[in-house]
Amino acid sequence: MNFGSDNMVGASAPILDAIIEANHGALASYGGDPWCAEATRRIAEAFECEVEVFFVASGTVANSLALSALVPPWGAVYAQADAHILNEESTAPELFTGGARMIGLPPHHGKLEPDTLDEALSRPRHPPHRPLPAAFSLTQCNERGRVFGVAEVAALCAVARRHGLKVHMDGARFANAVASLGCAPADITWRAGVDVLTLGASKNGGLMAEAVVFFDRELAGDFAWRIKRAGQTAAKGRFFGAQFVGWLRDGHWLELARHANAMAARLAQGIAAAPGARLAWPCEANEVFALLPRKRAEALWAAGAVFYEWVQPNAEGDPEAGAGTLLARLVTSFLTDTAEVDRFIHLLNQE
Ligand SMILES: Cc1ncc(COP(=O)(O)O)c(C=O)c1O
Repeated sequence: MNFGSDNMVGASAPILDAIIEANHGALASYGGDPWCAEATRRIAEAFECEVEVFFVASGTVANSLALSALVPPWGAVYAQADAHILNEESTAPELFTGGARMIGLPPHHGKLEPDTLDEALSRPRHPPHRPLPAAFSLTQCNERGRVFGVAEVAALCAVARRHGLKVHMDGARFANAVASLGCAPADITWRAGVDVLTLGASKNGGLMAEAVVFFDRELAGDFAWRIKRAGQTAAKGRFFGAQFVGWLRDGHWLELARHANAMAARLAQGIAAAPGARLAWPCEANEVFALLPRKRAEALWAAGAVFYEWVQPNAEGDPEAGAGTLLARLVTSFLTDTAEVDRFIHLLNQE
């Protein structure tokens, strides 16, 4: 019953197989190897366009470096207030951007709306006293388990672009969003107005691999130096490439994501039907946010269930959670099975 995070499980067998395949002989180092070339080709194929791709080890560094390519040190990055870049990446975005300001905007039912972004970007800019609005960062799936539809991504990007901002997408769970929407990856990225994507494999079967994917390739001009300066130019880069080859081969990435999403749907259905429990927001991918009676949550923890009480510093508009109730985040992964979901629901229903 581990619903702590999708990064608590190991790697999937086909990805480990690809790593073993890549473990032969001497190859060019620092990403100049055939595995990275093949991974880049497969990413371009999946997104139906030419891309510049860079591989790194964590989502934090991928997001922070991606933002550094979009924003000057005196610039501002706008994002939904609960975004990972604002709450869970310490000051890495500020460090790598050279001090850019991260600005959080309140969501409505778990999602940032275009009017909220438009209102924030329409305020007087008062240069040079206020930070220069320079980038908008959208998380897909977001930190409330919600998925932005094709039209929603396009509407948010249109506002950002109209105000002259570049657009970044934090796709730590991008595969889960594509699996949920059943759309083409291009439909929620470059076709909708996204300039650069952090494409995460680590939470969806990868060992540890994130790709920074530039759709606007001009923005990638100095990115190799940014990566090197951050100490992320891995000598044995072939193993990043191999993870992405194993992930993308034969549609494996979406197969893994579909499974995780199906497990979350099952969990959400069970929670919604349990006495005293309710979903905080609709479950649309592989995360479930639920208001649980605190006593039941404590009993579940005592029985070995792993999940977090979700309290964030930037949690404007959260649903009511008080002494008797807590807001829980439950995350499913490619490894979650129906038995652990059903056991959790069974225990939740005990008096
Ligand atoms: C939305 C989001 N973005 C990015 C990340 C990646 O962060 P990390 O630096 O832990 O790989 C996470 C991981 O929790 C996440 O949930």
